[in-house]
Amino acid sequence: MNLILLGPPGAGKGTQARRLEESRGLVQLSTGDMLRALVAEGGPLGQQAKDIMAAGKLMPDSLMVEMIGERISKPDVSKGFILDGFPRTVAQATALDTMLSEKGLKLDHVIEMQVVDDILVDRITGRYTCAKCGKGYHDRFEQPKVQGVCDACGSTEFKRRADDKAETVSTRLEQYHQQTAPILPYYRDRGVLKSVDGMADIDEVTRQIEAVLAG
Ligand code: AP5
Ligand code: MG
Repeated sequence: MNLILLGPPGAGKGTQARRLEESRGLVQLSTGDMLRALVAEGGPLGQQAKDIMAAGKLMPDSLMVEMIGERISKPDVSKGFILDGFPRTVAQATALDTMLSEKGLKLDHVIEMQVVDDILVDRITGRYTCAKCGKGYHDRFEQPKVQGVCDACGSTEFKRRADDKAETVSTRLEQYHQQTAPILPYYRDRGVLKSVDGMADIDEVTRQIEAVLAG
């Protein structure tokens, strides 16, 4: 099964994609994570990604299409995949269609996670992760059981994303409404779009996604 989780920054795409990886053995393909790995490697492309992401803008379509094209050519995607953060423009969506049909792959579901902007700002500015294993937390909504100690690996080091500052979040939301939201009618017209209430609690959102996948 191949699906897209579509939603604004902070909608919970990453949170739900990781749950689907565990429950269904699907592979999470997060373009944001791929770009952050590129930034960590350094190099000119990494520097470009660092600057664009810190400004809350989008990377060029051509680069992102190439990145996903390479990724979906790897054998592990045969288990099924969850696209998280791609496509983000109509041009990316049409390029994805072409790549999938060339590879004989099919898109089963596009799931829109609906959350209003005010809630997104709160979620993103409070988010942090374990620096060692990457488990995600939130200052108010998802704290470690023992303060300052990761539940999963026991590490005491945590980090925050460079683009999670309030001023960058407003640009990221603007980009979503201007560039990414026009993808919704594209998929609605093709009959593959379903929406879930991304403002419900995390377990309830998982239940709603499972209901879409079962339907
Ligand atoms: P990317 O990494 O994709 O970031 P994003 O889309 O802005 O989304 P986030 O990762 O911030 O949010 P999320 O939906 O994964 O939410 P999460 O589960 O973490 O992209 C970053 C940048 O890379 C872009 O700005 C752009 O520059 C570039 N880029 C990436 N892809 C690109 C592309 N295709 N084209 C061009 N440029 C691209 O949840 C957020 C928080 O809320 C967490 O703390 C979580 O615990 C909490 N939470 C989650 N669900 C709930 C819930 N139901 N209730 C309460 N809290 C919740
Ligand atoms: Mg994410």
